[in-house]
Amino acid sequence: MKSEMHNDILKILVTEEEIQARISEMGAELYEKFQGKNPLFLGVLKGSFVFMSDLVRACQVKSDVEFIAVSSYENAMASSGRVKITHDIQQDITGRHLIVVEDILDSGNTLAFLKEYFKTKGAASITIVTLLDKPSRRTKAITPDLAGFTVPDEFVVGYGLDYCQQYRNVPYIGVLKPEVYSH
Ligand code: XMP
Ligand code: MG
Repeated sequence: MKSEMHNDILKILVTEEEIQARISEMGAELYEKFQGKNPLFLGVLKGSFVFMSDLVRACQVKSDVEFIAVSSYENAMASSGRVKITHDIQQDITGRHLIVVEDILDSGNTLAFLKEYFKTKGAASITIVTLLDKPSRRTKAITPDLAGFTVPDEFVVGYGLDYCQQYRNVPYIGVLKPEVYSH
């Protein structure tokens, strides 16, 4: 496929094939845990939208999907530490089994905040699923219940993850060339 972005990528950390194979395993694992429970897949926008769409199709349980949008980074590469809900959930989650779907668990600020928020809204259970885990930068005591891949302390893009809102449609996980940041 032609790509305007591939040339900006320094190295590929996780290929398309590796992502799909891992998501099949994750879907199967979630199936065993949630069959008969009618879970709600709750994606954290924007980053999770690509992962969410593959994950829900890899897990054929009766379920529905919901999204919440938060912002903490404000187009920078380091978390401000503050989490703001920019688009709230549109349904009552009282008594629901939540599968919270994230692109990456980094400092843990976002998910620590959201976990508390969903608890106060009366969720029956909260399962945290993230495609990528970057444990080296964790500042909050939070661990994913299921993670696709552990990544080193490098800023990654692709498969939903952005740099200044760009590169979300790159089909693999990669690291940008340093000169891309200097423009
Ligand atoms: P925290 O620090 O709250 O981060 O766990 C969660 C959110 O921060 C974004 N994030 C990244 N985005 N490349 C990105 O494109 C990265 O390496 C990265 N690290 C954190 C992401 O939006 C995630 O939901
Ligand atoms: Mg995100």
